[in-house]
Amino acid sequence: MAGSANLNVMMKTARKAGRALLKDFGEVENLQVSTKGPGDFVSRADRTAEETIREELLRARPSYGFLGEEGREIEGEDPTRRWIVDPLDGTTNFLHGLPHWAVSIALEHKGQTVAGVIYDPVKDEMFYAEKGGGAWLNESRLRVSGRHRLIESIFATGLPFAGRADLPDTIKDLARLLPACAGVRRFGAASLDFAYVAAGRYEGFWERGLHAWDMAAGLIIVREAGGIAEPLQIGGDILADGQVICGNEPIFETFAKVIRKA
Ligand code: IPD
Repeated sequence: MAGSANLNVMMKTARKAGRALLKDFGEVENLQVSTKGPGDFVSRADRTAEETIREELLRARPSYGFLGEEGREIEGEDPTRRWIVDPLDGTTNFLHGLPHWAVSIALEHKGQTVAGVIYDPVKDEMFYAEKGGGAWLNESRLRVSGRHRLIESIFATGLPFAGRADLPDTIKDLARLLPACAGVRRFGAASLDFAYVAAGRYEGFWERGLHAWDMAAGLIIVREAGGIAEPLQIGGDILADGQVICGNEPIFETFAKVIRKA
């Protein structure tokens, strides 16, 4: 798809950061056997990726604001536009040498995501969308799946770790959903969970405790692929609350009814 100048900047930037991270990922695989592990190395790789992305984006659009996972927010001269960036989504996977992580970049205008890019360098999959332009994976147009029966559908979620307070809610969700569907996956990179819903690989995804940078790009990619994305709590605000539920159009209502029963 011939995208806008902004989309091209986003894709070029995601590729640049992704290439550097991929090199680091090779190193991380070697560091698994050391007693200290690759923790410090990965934190550095993550921060460097964010610096690269911030420099590239702010050079191309000096007036836009910038919100990234690793640094403080930068207010732009233009208060209506900001980049929302997760330089390395799936950090824990990366740290453990698991090849499932991505660079996520979104552009927000007046509080709405207007473009999103999620790049998985290991598989060289570039997911992207722009408002009104459809969603794409590399050169192919994306469409959410057509499955409408829960029992044939696969869903993804995030499992709360390290003593998080939302664990009981997630366990209750799973107890209701698992007996009624074909499976639930926990792959560990929320941005790719959205991208996979858009690509029709899963029928839906829900999670609590996320941040704007985990979700902003994914939301527009799912919607432009024909999917539905809503706050988990009806009437909430996805980015502010950090909770989301999304899915293909045929399954969404049934899926959301099961998850929102809590
Ligand atoms: C994490 C991943 C994971 C989700 C976590 C996020 P990070 O992002 O997206 O899938 O379950 O809640 O924090 O920390 O790897 O950028």
